[in-house]
Amino acid sequence: MAREIRAAIAGVGNSASSLIQGIAYYTQEKKPVGLANKKIGPYGVQDIQIVAAFDVDKRKVGRDLSEAIFQEPNNTRKFIQPSHLGVKVQMAQPLDGISPIAGEKILLSDAKPSNPTKVLADAKAEVLVNLTPTGATRASEMYARAALQSKCAFINATPARIASNTQWQSKYRRAKVPLTGDDIMDQVGSTILHRNVLALLVDRGLHIGETYQLDIGGGTESELSLDKKRYEIKRKIKTSSVAAAVPYQFPIVAGSSDFVDFMENRRTSYFNIKGEYFGGTEFSLDMRLSLEDGPACAAVVSDVIRMVKLSWDHGETGPLNAVSAYGFKAPPKRLPDQTLKQELAAMMKGTKNH
Ligand SMILES: NC(=O)c1ccc[n+]([C@@H]2O[C@H](COP(=O)([O-])OP(=O)(O)OC[C@H]3O[C@@H](n4cnc5c(N)ncnc54)[C@H](O)[C@@H]3O)[C@@H](O)[C@H]2O)c1
Repeated sequence: MAREIRAAIAGVGNSASSLIQGIAYYTQEKKPVGLANKKIGPYGVQDIQIVAAFDVDKRKVGRDLSEAIFQEPNNTRKFIQPSHLGVKVQMAQPLDGISPIAGEKILLSDAKPSNPTKVLADAKAEVLVNLTPTGATRASEMYARAALQSKCAFINATPARIASNTQWQSKYRRAKVPLTGDDIMDQVGSTILHRNVLALLVDRGLHIGETYQLDIGGGTESELSLDKKRYEIKRKIKTSSVAAAVPYQFPIVAGSSDFVDFMENRRTSYFNIKGEYFGGTEFSLDMRLSLEDGPACAAVVSDVIRMVKLSWDHGETGPLNAVSAYGFKAPPKRLPDQTLKQELAAMMKGTKNH
């Protein structure tokens, strides 16, 4: 069996840059650090081959992907120069991909938009990863449709409601094509850290009184957070993902962000948790996390691409519940940790049909 996974990308921004650099990095690096899963079934990160890409910015469209990923406004860390990939970025229909606030950073190309269904079919893409900006719901739906028509699995890394929408679930189930999403949960980031610290405290018998997390960053996505209406979808997803770690209701604020341009793609998250422990004694916990956004997203995308391919090898199609619960903040179905571990183990062995 060929080990290659033919993947396409919609949105050549910071996350795509880290993913493409990561594939080059793990192809060269003999002692890899920074991977949760060195192999998923037979697949390593180096087996992901990017065969097509879409964007709308004139600095990226028409360029080889190995150069397009370093064009402005991308500002994530360069940790390797990938060799020439032979994949030119195709022009797409912008639709709602350009927001009134952060959109001014995008220089719209005047190239003729490609037909995404045809591009995916011609490239024999097996998986399409949607990495368009937060709030690009119509653009995300365009890609979900194109993937379906060209029988390509769809990974929705954005907060647009696709994998968690029952109509899209039925369409992918009927077409026997895998679907995962929505909104990638970073390898390490504010959501996973906040959730796990809250779960630990609850497990130790503490009562959570209130909590908040505040993010500041300099990537385009952080600037988008200033567009309160567009960003509301992200805030809601983050809040419900964190709140799900505690079995009762309590005051919570998550997903509030601000933009500091000189931070580039770095993000700092501040957390506070207050509550009570033994004898009603009060506690207050403060944490701060600083990291780079792109690699935190790309790490999980590189797992999910391989999990989707492996699931498909084993005949699993439609919404992939365990893969979505592992990799995303708003999956079709939340699974308790123990169930998730068992389902992922079964998925790796190919003993479970969703
Ligand atoms: N840590 C993370 O970076 C992280 C975590 C969770 C989710 N996400 C999600 O991943 C997505 C991408 O994040 P990012 O930081 O890479 O964003 P980004 O702004 O750096 O990149 C988005 C890219 O999409 C392009 N684009 C706009 N409209 C398009 C269209 N119609 N077709 C194709 N391309 C289009 C833009 O030109 C840009 O290159 C966002 O939806 C974000 O919410 C990212």
